[in-house]
Amino acid sequence: MRILSIETSCDETSMSLVDFTEKDSTKILIHSHFTASQAMLHAEYGGVFPAVAKREHVKSITPLLIALLDESKSSIDSAEWRPAPNWNKDKINEILNRDPELAEDLNRFLASATFPQIDAIAVTSGPGLEIALWVGITFAKALGYILDIPVIGVNHMMGHLVSSLIQDSSLRTEIDFANIPDNSLSLLISGGHTELININNGKYELLGETVDDAIGEAYDKVARLMGLLYPGGPRIAKLAKEAREKGITPVDLPRPMINSNDYNFSYSGLKTAVMYHLRKNKLETEEDNLAMALGFENAATEVIVKKVKNALIETGKTDLLLGGGVAANEYLNGELVRITSGLGVKTHSPIMALTGDNALMIALAGYIKIKENGLTDESGSIVAKGTLSVA
Ligand code: KG4
Ligand code: ZN
Repeated sequence: MRILSIETSCDETSMSLVDFTEKDSTKILIHSHFTASQAMLHAEYGGVFPAVAKREHVKSITPLLIALLDESKSSIDSAEWRPAPNWNKDKINEILNRDPELAEDLNRFLASATFPQIDAIAVTSGPGLEIALWVGITFAKALGYILDIPVIGVNHMMGHLVSSLIQDSSLRTEIDFANIPDNSLSLLISGGHTELININNGKYELLGETVDDAIGEAYDKVARLMGLLYPGGPRIAKLAKEAREKGITPVDLPRPMINSNDYNFSYSGLKTAVMYHLRKNKLETEEDNLAMALGFENAATEVIVKKVKNALIETGKTDLLLGGGVAANEYLNGELVRITSGLGVKTHSPIMALTGDNALMIALAGYIKIKENGLTDESGSIVAKGTLSVA
């Protein structure tokens, strides 16, 4: 089955074209996968600015489709390529009426475009910024219409949940990928989510989540307080790593909810503690910055690790699936592996290329959804959902 996938939930515009085959094992062949990141543009706002995100998705999405198809020409037989069977300028204008410039870009390209056989389009329908999600959704509907193929909506967090199953993102190599381990727990940590999910034979149960800010959001807000650019996660992580190497004493910060007898988290109190600390103690030296980053990362990580450990012990799960932008954090990964290996649990971390938002994970989540529910066209019903959960 060949899937074209589209992701525009936040500040990355991403698209992939992949084949899934089931022989003795499940295999994936990536014809092409591109992501255009807007992170640099949002840096000055200290976070993602929705109107800018939408504008950039509109600008990038047609060029991304052009690049995607171009790249796919080297692995898809030239005999397969044909003009879109249903291309109709007025219909494209109607479907993309929210964004006339996008309709114009796409119509211009379609005048000479050819497409290979594609079986379905999978598009992120939420959670995320609704005005950003709509760009991907309407674009997917337009493509579905002109190619006369089904479009399905995919939950972005399901994408993160399955992202660690693809351990190699090379193009044009048939890669084996694992199925979701039956007996597993998923930790989703991103700019918008901090969730622990219990997976029971295809059923998802939310064990706990943040009661306020997500962990990635806390990294970004603390980074802003420290005068660092967005996205703050990787910047704080780098400083904390340096601090550890230099043996710097961390700033002492609270571990909110570490002893609450549940699997919920709170990160806004930790950010506030940083804010109060910085009011009294200015960051003057390099050592001050290192101590602050280390103090924050240690506190943020310790709570996660303790709750994951408790959840693994209580549920008896044998596999931990990590997903989301914060899964790129080396220290957190190391700490999780340390406690999970002690419990005989296998930790599955996404490869670095698939920790952040990407269309490959959306293709995989789409494929799994089709396998479970069959392939039904949802073009008429997909809407952007800002808050959509897995469980
Ligand atoms: O999954 P993602 O790309 O977008 C959302 O769906 O939110 O996650 C982005 C988040 C940002 O908050 C970013 O600061 C954080 O992931 N992040 C990190 C690291 N790399 C990215 N946080 C901590 N350590 C990192 N190395
Ligand atoms: Zn994400």
